[in-house]
Amino acid sequence: MTVQNARSTILELFRVAGDGFVSGARISRTLGVSRTAVWKKIEQLRLLGYAIEAVPSKGYRLQGSPDLLLPAEVSNALGTRHIGRQVIYFAQTDSTNLRAHELGKSGAPEGTVVLADSQTAGKGRLGRRWSSPAGVNLYASVLVRPPVAPRHASQLTFLSAAAVARTVAETASLPVSVKWPNDVLVAGRKIAGLLNELDAETERIHYLVLGIGVNLNMTADQFPEDLRYPATSMLLATGRSVSRIDFTRCLLRHLDVLYELYLTQGFVPVLEAWMSYFDLIGRAVEVDYHDRRVVGTVAGLDDDGALLLVLGDGSRERVLAGDVRP
Ligand code: BTN
Repeated sequence: MTVQNARSTILELFRVAGDGFVSGARISRTLGVSRTAVWKKIEQLRLLGYAIEAVPSKGYRLQGSPDLLLPAEVSNALGTRHIGRQVIYFAQTDSTNLRAHELGKSGAPEGTVVLADSQTAGKGRLGRRWSSPAGVNLYASVLVRPPVAPRHASQLTFLSAAAVARTVAETASLPVSVKWPNDVLVAGRKIAGLLNELDAETERIHYLVLGIGVNLNMTADQFPEDLRYPATSMLLATGRSVSRIDFTRCLLRHLDVLYELYLTQGFVPVLEAWMSYFDLIGRAVEVDYHDRRVVGTVAGLDDDGALLLVLGDGSRERVLAGDVRP
């Protein structure tokens, strides 16, 4: 049994016991290890921040949990069909996207989720860094293997953005919007970034990594100084900290609902979900792409999620990627 599985099993025993005690003998039987080994595992959990009472004739009782995204906490009774069938946690890693790529190549099942408490080399779009301090945010990478052609891979970005927007809206009543193609904003400030990465051959996707970073309990002094856009976190936007575990579980459920829709009904319902948070239709925007700047009015999005603009001379332009400003 791995360290992670042993921890998960003990936490599961605590969960079932509620406010009650779990005897050392019971844990030792369940894990198939000695009572001394059980005591060591309990010490490890305490080091992670779990408050565990020990009473000689009764055993152990859980009195408080840290807000750590351990698999036992995240996947317990999650009830999803696809997303979160396997959850892997790192206290620290370079980038959850890199870990998810390794898992993708070694045949990990669809819906595998990689979570980290902190990242030492969190990847942002266009080769930028994603600031990833410990203990405060959500850094997640979700492995999916959609049976669609690689040219449709960008559709999954709208899926993760819509899932994040729904989760933010459900967690707190905040003015959530999406910025085309892949940011989630609260009151115009970036709260989440998405980095989807594809591994494919000409006609077939091997796997896609949906990288999702959400600023949850990050304080103003924890943001890097060289931010391109104004940023925020759930804590800054609401004045209250959020449970990382609850937020993550909620997000995985929304991802699952939208992914099921995508598999059964295609991109349209996913795009509709995303559009309900998009507030630029009919508005004049500037778009920087391919080293040029285009000014036009947003007419909508096409089947692949490309932005459709009407330019000043009445012509239409289809924008596949770029930076849009109202
Ligand atoms: C952006 O530039 O807006 C995209 C940021 C994506 C960050 C997330 S955090 C989890 C996952 N792992 C990474 O290294 N990056 C993504």
